[in-house]
Amino acid sequence: MAIRSIVYFPSKILRQTSEEIKDIDKNINQLAVDMIETMQEYNGVGLAAVQIGVPLRMFILDKAAENEQVECDPMIVINPKIIWSSSGLSTYNEGCLSVPEMYEEVQRPAQINMQYYTLENKLEEIKLDSLLATCAQHELDHLNGILFFDHLSKIKKNRLINKFLKRTKL
Ligand code: CO
Repeated sequence: MAIRSIVYFPSKILRQTSEEIKDIDKNINQLAVDMIETMQEYNGVGLAAVQIGVPLRMFILDKAAENEQVECDPMIVINPKIIWSSSGLSTYNEGCLSVPEMYEEVQRPAQINMQYYTLENKLEEIKLDSLLATCAQHELDHLNGILFFDHLSKIKKNRLINKFLKRTKL
């Protein structure tokens, strides 16, 4: 078990499309354990494999993100597909462990149905809403090389990127 280091923007790997996982083997199990430890260490509510430098289609979500009583309830999501999204939208102030300390409001479908494989290689379908729906869409974007600020207007996006790059140069 190990806490891995986070890949930060503007690393090129974050713009890569992650590959489907063909075999859910020992290495994938180990990767899941490391991702959970890393997410907890950095207090995230979600983490995509590519954010620790492994461009495979897998992410984790903390199902307890909205529950202050439970510390962490990680859900491992492999080869996910969104099979339905609501026309109703919701807005959250999003951030990303790969773009630390930058937040901006992003609008996304309020509810989704997602199909994915578990670590036990079982195909599951889940309906998500509110914060978890937003998180799942944010993490799935990572698998396609998309970052949360790509959903903003050009002006807001450039402002955020410039602010972040200026800060990391200090
Ligand atoms: Co992110």
